[in-house]
Order: sequence, then structure tokens, then C-alpha cells
Amino acid sequence: MARPDKHDPASLKFHTQAVHAGNRIDTGSGAIRTPIVMANSYALPEDPSGVSWSGTDVPLYTRNSGVNQLALQERLAALDGGEDAVVLASGVAALHAVFFTHLRTGDHVVVGDVTYEATWRLFAELLPQKYGIEATFVDTSDVAAVAEAIRGNTKLVHVEAIANPTTKVTDIAAVAGVAHAAGALLSVDSTFTPPPLYRPLADGADLVVHSLTKYINGHGDAMGGAVIGSRELIQPIKSDAMVDVGGVIAPFNAWLITRGSVTLPLRLPRHLESASRVAEFLAADPRIAYVAYPGLAAHPQHELAARQFGGRGFGAMLAFAVDGGPEVQNRFVANLRVVTSAVSLGHDESLIVHVGTEGPRVARYPDEFRRWGHLRFSVGLEDPDDLIADLDGALTATFDGSASS
Ligand SMILES: Cc1ncc(COP(=O)(O)O)c(C=O)c1O
Repeated sequence: MARPDKHDPASLKFHTQAVHAGNRIDTGSGAIRTPIVMANSYALPEDPSGVSWSGTDVPLYTRNSGVNQLALQERLAALDGGEDAVVLASGVAALHAVFFTHLRTGDHVVVGDVTYEATWRLFAELLPQKYGIEATFVDTSDVAAVAEAIRGNTKLVHVEAIANPTTKVTDIAAVAGVAHAAGALLSVDSTFTPPPLYRPLADGADLVVHSLTKYINGHGDAMGGAVIGSRELIQPIKSDAMVDVGGVIAPFNAWLITRGSVTLPLRLPRHLESASRVAEFLAADPRIAYVAYPGLAAHPQHELAARQFGGRGFGAMLAFAVDGGPEVQNRFVANLRVVTSAVSLGHDESLIVHVGTEGPRVARYPDEFRRWGHLRFSVGLEDPDDLIADLDGALTATFDGSASS
């Protein structure tokens, strides 16, 4: 058996990669963890004539390649099983970087009809209006519908492995087959399904996008985004979208996210187990109108999710509504004592946000979302008994009419 070597991430198992991949002993100080290098620029050799000013592989200028970016890129490539990775200032910067780099005027994209808001707006308005890129929104849980939407000029299929916020699950291997048969790339936003829960590249995806702001950092204190894939597809993203558009990540944020990622394999199982318990509790409560969570047997893609995520879990995001109108949802949220009402997800603390029934995106959601609205719930690392007691207490206070003070 080959000996594991911490300088060769491919020789390491997942937990070991999360600790060591991308980390270097600092030759100047001897520090055994890569330090935060808050420098914009790095010393050039005596004869710089051989330096590529747009190079991205060695520290040169922080918009190309700083010490902390390079460390995080190496770690994320290892964790997702990709050849290379590029990190940017936010998840949206990473999504835009994929579309900006790999699409041009006249291209067509097939995109999931339920996606994160910015992805929806990029394809519904900004990219068509500004760059003449066409998009067709389809229910990507229906592989035949994806195949039907493909055109001669389709260059990209873009989906979320578990869609935000409806939790619809897409069969990545099947959709990869459809995209590749048409000569198109498949990019997967796997923000809801970070590794080791899921690695879309292994199922045939060409590019994986993460908002690092969420589970991979995990502590709710830094924004970032990443794209992982083959060197052939990632290098142009670095040259075009990072160096020449410039949505670069700050060294401090790259360092924070690298540190947060060390405990990803320990944190994630807790998120997944607690989400499952919380979903079961809500689904059994008559005061709840509906619960969308792929771990529930009633979820339309429950079996696909069990197979695709290898039995490791079903994510830690759920959407539900209390039986009542918008003011009842708001009262319920106001009655929570542990769960925080705020946007974002994948933080250490549980977060909930009430989203109403209006707007063009919501029109594409399932009936129950359009009838009651939804509470998007990111299940955190608190004791699940506390979370369930908090939800139960808030429901009781809401329906008893107790004050929310
Ligand atoms: C699925 C998904 N992708 C991308 C993003 C954007 O990430 P960021 O806020 O880091 O730009 C989000 C944010 O919530 C998200 O939920």
C-alpha cells in the first residue's frame, strides 16, 4: 500500500486532506501552519524577464496568486477530487466567473428552474440583456426535460445538486450524460452538498461551484467562493475572471476559510444528523403545513438523494411553513429563542429566514411554497434537543398567542 504523504494530497484520506492539503511550513518563520500573508505583491527575481505577468501558479501579485489563495485552492481541489481550483471573493463571484469565462454571445444555457437568487437573475436578466446569452429554465429533476431543452448552441447546463430553497434534487450523473452528449459542460453548484457528503466531479460534472461562505468555512465570519475542476477548465477562469475581472478573495478570508475547512469532516455529520431529526420532528407536527427535506420518505427525490449521496445524508437545509398566513410565520420566527432569524446558511449557528409568496422566482416553486411561503432553515451545530425544544416552544407560543418577548 502506498504510504500517505501530507505533501501529496492524492495519497491522503478525506480527514487528512482537510488537515494538511495546501498547508506548508513557512520557511521564513518556521511556523507549521501557513501564516496570513497580507501582502499585495511578492519579490521578483533579479531578472524578471521570464516572469509571466498574468501567471497564477506562484505568488506574484494577490490578484493573480497570493500565499493564502494558493493554499486554499490546493485544499479545495483535494477535497472535491479535482485537478485544480480557483477561489474568489464570494460564491456569486465564483458562479459569475464560470459563466463569464465559459460562455459567449449567442450561446445557450440550460439552467435549473430553482436556483439561488443571483444565479436566477444572471440568467433571467443580466447575461441575456448585456451579453446576448440565452437561457432556458427547466425542472432539472426531470432528465427528459433537460434533454428536450438542449439546442444546437447549448454550451452549458447549470444545476444545484440540492436546489435552494425547494430542496429539489438533480440526478447529476444522468444530467452529465445529457450535457456531454450535446457537447455541453455541466456545472454544479454544490453549496448545499459540500464534500464529503457529495463530490459531483465523480458523477461526471465538469465544474463544481461552492459558496465557501457556507459549510466549508462554517463559522459565518468570511465570504468566499470556489470553482473546482480540470486544469483545462479552471485555468481560463483564473486568467479571465480572476486576473482580468478581479473579484479576488482577501488573504485573511482565504486563511479563515482554510482554517474553517479543517473541521468540515467533523462538522458536517453533525449538521446532517441534526437536520434529519429536526425534519422528522416538524413533519410529525400538525401545526406545520409542509416540510421539504430530501431525507423524508415523502420527498419526491428521496430515493435518488439516498443513492446519489451514498447514504451519508441529505443535506442540512430544509424549507417548511407553519400552518397560517405570513403574520403567523413571522410570529413563529419571533418566538424562537435559539435559532437566529438571518440570511445565509451552513454557519455554526442555526439560521432561519421567512420568504413570502411573491416574485417571479417563487412562481416556479411547488404549490405549497406558493400557498404558505416558506421558512428556509439552516440546521446548525447546536444540540438537536435544544433546536427541537426551541421549535416546539415557538410553535406553542405562536398558537397560544403568547407574547414574543
Ligand atoms: C446555493 C448558493 N449558491 C451561491 C450562493 C452565493 O454565495 P455568496 O453569498 O458567498 O456569494 C448562495 C448564497 O446563499 C447559495 O445558497
